[in-house]
Parts: sequence; structure tokens; C-alpha cells
Amino acid sequence: MSVLEARPTQGTLGRAAAPRTLLVEGPAVHRLRAESLAWRAVDLDARQTCDLELLLNGGFAPLRGFLGRADYDSVLARMRLADGTLWPIPITLDIDDEAAEGLLPGERIVLRHAEGVPLAVLTVSDVWRPDRLAEARAVLGTDDEKHPEAFRLRHQTRPVYVGGTLEGLELPPHHTFRALRHTPAELRAQIARRGLERVVAFQTRNPLHRAHVELIRRAGQSANAAVLLHPVVGRTSPGDVDYFTRVRCYRAVESRLGSPEKPALLSLLPLAMRMAGPREAVWHALIRRNYGATHFVVGRDHAGPGKDSGGRPFYHPDAARRLAEEHADEIGIEIVSSEELVYVAARGGAVGEGGAGYVPSSAVPAGAEALTLSGTEVRRRLQTGEEIPDWFSYPEVVAELRRQHPPRNAQGFTIFFTGLSGAGKSTVANILVAKLMEIGGRPVTLLDGDLVRKNLSSELGFSRAHRDLNILRIGFVAQEISKNGGVAVCAPIAPYSATRRAVRELVEERSGFFEVHVSTSIAVCEQRDRKGLYAKARAGLLKGFTGIDDPYETPEAAELVLDTALLSAEEAAEQVIVRLRSEGYIA
Ligand code: PPS
Repeated sequence: MSVLEARPTQGTLGRAAAPRTLLVEGPAVHRLRAESLAWRAVDLDARQTCDLELLLNGGFAPLRGFLGRADYDSVLARMRLADGTLWPIPITLDIDDEAAEGLLPGERIVLRHAEGVPLAVLTVSDVWRPDRLAEARAVLGTDDEKHPEAFRLRHQTRPVYVGGTLEGLELPPHHTFRALRHTPAELRAQIARRGLERVVAFQTRNPLHRAHVELIRRAGQSANAAVLLHPVVGRTSPGDVDYFTRVRCYRAVESRLGSPEKPALLSLLPLAMRMAGPREAVWHALIRRNYGATHFVVGRDHAGPGKDSGGRPFYHPDAARRLAEEHADEIGIEIVSSEELVYVAARGGAVGEGGAGYVPSSAVPAGAEALTLSGTEVRRRLQTGEEIPDWFSYPEVVAELRRQHPPRNAQGFTIFFTGLSGAGKSTVANILVAKLMEIGGRPVTLLDGDLVRKNLSSELGFSRAHRDLNILRIGFVAQEISKNGGVAVCAPIAPYSATRRAVRELVEERSGFFEVHVSTSIAVCEQRDRKGLYAKARAGLLKGFTGIDDPYETPEAAELVLDTALLSAEEAAEQVIVRLRSEGYIA
């Protein structure tokens, strides 16, 4: 089997006209803007802004807005809009109860960028409370929380969906890499200017190393098409390399993807991925068709989210390719399938010498040594500063990645203590801060539960919503501190595991995160009762007290568990230091 097989082609695909945008043009924009000042406004989060951008610019054509109820139900059940048009992923606008109060079909609401700029007007057609777990099962095939989108649907999606048609006022602003951002119409115009009849798009959310570059080049050759490198820079999967770094890496390899006659195109796609495997592959192909591609590469495990909580892959590695191929004609794009490439080393040869090179994993000659490096292994080597071999990547790409991933002893991190009131979090945290200051080298900030509540969260109480808000604020500050090279030591109760996970994901985007469960039992905490709060709670004078009449969800995967009934606070703090040393964060 060849690495890349373009499905039999009927010649050049007729490229349809650019999809319609939903932007209002001319003086009507000013009128709409002025009128809309009196209307209810919803501030979009980062992910909704990504969806809105692709709705407005035609990337999600033929959608005319956020899905209404009938389309939503139909997309879930059969991957089609209610009128039968192929559409695999529900594009919905989720809002909270407060924003939805009294909202009725026919009302017009303003959708604003996080910074307050009005971007579009939505004429509401439907308002409903979806079954979000049923949505996860229908679209993702699972509601397992290990799936990042299932997790989001379960814990982070707001409870009310609003559907309706959109009138765009302006596209969301971008200040980075502006020359590489295009609407579908702009990219199609660029393709037409270059006289390209056939364009093969390649989707990625990772830096490109030699194997990818080989694969993309072969895709271009097998489809006899120019290459469009179309990386996602909206929202990808937690833990991915940030897009600033990736774009610098893409630029470093751009010239290797094409030929002097057919240079590759590079364009950034502001998509919020769902990691929905097969359905996502169909969606990606539709979007690329809208952007003017005639061919689209779908590899093994396309948009796969890794393993489920039983350690099994969420999707069969070929499922995405099969589903995309099944719908290729209807989409109007050819699917180019790709097989994993591995490096076969010739005896002592350098890259490309003496028969060494990349071959499909199924075509490794008998007796030859096939080399690969997993993503996890690359991350590990970046973290420890170990060599990344020349056969695997390009020196320019490795240099960019190293610039962004300094060795751990030069990176910031967050220590997140969690545990019951009176468990000893603050005491251990204070000693830890003192030890880190003695060691020196990084600024250290203590975000103790009580201190945060006095300063950052003084208006909050102890309802679930307020506790979550409190923890997310701590997470936000900790992320800012640690991504800039500092150490954040947090010590709230943080009783809910989903909120702790959200903080972990936030911080881990750019730095290290250590959850330390101070597991001192409720009996010991109550016996200590230094603040007299347990006595008050038992007497019914304090309602909703953690551990008494409010839950504490025990962490299941904390990096460290410390029981201060068995260890002194000094010993507990020392254990954290030992752990940081063994992980390379402290020299
Ligand atoms: S949370 O759940 O993470 O937002 O709590 P946190 O910000 O850490 O605040 C916990 C401290 O507030 C005091 N306190 C209560 N704790 C739990 N439940 C209720 N209802 C409550 N009311 C007041 C308590 O002193 C906690 O301090 P620590 O240092 O944990 O003992």
C-alpha cells in the first residue's frame, strides 16, 4: 500500500464559488450597530469566538448561524441538518441561566468579543436546555470524562443553548500573524491568483518534524496538487504546544513543503477543535472545501483525543479516514489517506544517506531498524534538554521548541494544595514558600485560601458556584504567575474535582502543575478545630461547611498525598521539595 493514496480522480474538481459570509455590508452595519445598543448582550468566551468567526467568514458554510433545535437534534442523530445537508458537529451557543432569563424567539441579541466589541447580532429562533451528555454520546461516541470535549460538555458548557441566524458586524480581531490569516474568500483568491487548480490541505495541531514534512510532500505529489498547510490556531487539545511557537516552526519548514514551481501555502485556521475523531474529519474536510482546497489529508487517528479511562483508544485509527471517504463526493473534496511514516536507518548513514529515509510503517524492509519518537518522548527530551536526533526533526524546529521550553529548572510552576479546612494546607504552604525563597531563583507567590478570600474573592460565599469561581480565579492568577517563570503556591480547600481539573488544564498549558492532596482526616481536622468552625458547623450555626454538610471530592490523581496527622508540617513541605527536585524543577 502506498503511503498516500488519492482516491481515483475525475480530473480537477470544479471549485464552487466562495461561500457567502454572514457579514452585513455598507451603511447597514452602522444602522445595526446603533440599533443594537439597546439590546441584550452576551460576551463570548474564546471558544465561542472561534465558532463565530468561522460562521461569519463562511468557513462553516452553509450554516447561517448557531444551530436551532431541529438542526441540532438532526445533527446529533444523523450528522445532517434538518434539511438533509451534511453537517457533523453541532455549532451551538451556550449561555447561563441568568443570561437566558426571559429570552424568547424573535429577540435580537448582541454577541460581543471578550473585550466588549460587538461582533454580531443573533436573531433568536430557539432557546432550550440540551441533554449535554446525550450530545457527547451522539457526537463523540462517549461521555467518558477523559475525552476533553466530553469533559467540557459535562462540566463547562453552560446549560442553555440559543439558536438563530447571524448578522455579522465585524470579524473577531487578531493581532498575531495577521499576514497568515485569511477568510475563505481571501484564501480562494490567493489560490486563483497563483493559478492553482489542485490544492491539498493538511490539518495539524502539532509542530511539524521530518516525518510530517515527508508525508505532506508525498500528499502533494500523489494528488498532483499544491500543498496548503492549514494548522489550527483556535483551540486544540489541552497540553498542545502553543500556536505562537508552532507558527514559527511552520515557517521554518514552509519552503520544504512545496517546490519552486508550486510553493506551499500557509494559512492559520481559527477553529475550536472538538477532538471528535471521525465526525471531526468530515467537518475538517467541509471546512477545507470552503477554504478552496480540492484534496484533504486524513491520516490515522485524525483528531483523536488519545485513550479513554480504560486505556483504550476512543476511535479506531482508520475510522476517521473511512467516514471522510464515505462522504467525500458529497463534500466535494478528495480524501488523501496517509499512513504513518517511520525512519529506516542505514548502517551509520546520516539522514537521506546510504538508503536511509522515511518509509510507511508497513513497508519497513525485513531486518531493517525502524525508528520513531513518540510525542511524549519528544516532550520529555525537551523538558530535560536531551538531544532530539537529526533524523527526527530539523535543527530550526528544535531550536524554536527549545526556545519555548526552557529546561524545567528555568520554568515556572504551580503547587496546588487541596484538602479540608484544618488539614494543614496553609501551614505546609507557608513552610514550602520559605524553603523556595531560601533556594531562590524564582519569585514565589502564596495564594492561600483565606488570603484570597480577603482580597481577590471578598464578595464570594461558599455555594458551589462561588467556590468554583474562587478556585478558577486562583487558577487564572497561578497560570499567569507560572507561565512567566514564577512559582504560585495555592492553598484553598478546592473541594470539587472538575474545578481542580480545569485549573490543572489551564496551568499545564504553559507550565508545571503539582496537585498536593493534604489528606488529613476529618476526624483529626475536627479535633484540631483551630478556628472553631467545625464546632459551629456541628451546632448548625454554619451551613454548608466542607466535610460536614458540604462535599469534598477526594483527588484521584494528585502528584503527592500528605497526611499531617502522620507527618510534621516541616516534613510535609520537605516532601514537596524532594518531588520538585526529582522532577527537575529545582536543581
Ligand atoms: S473553597 O471551597 O476552596 O472556595 O474554600 P476556601 O477559599 O479555601 O476557603 C476556605 C476557608 O474559609 C473558611 N470557611 C469555610 N470553609 C469551608 N466551608 C465553609 N462553609 C466555610 N465558611 C468559612 C475556612 O476557614 C476555610 O479556611 P481553611 O484555611 O481551609 O481552614
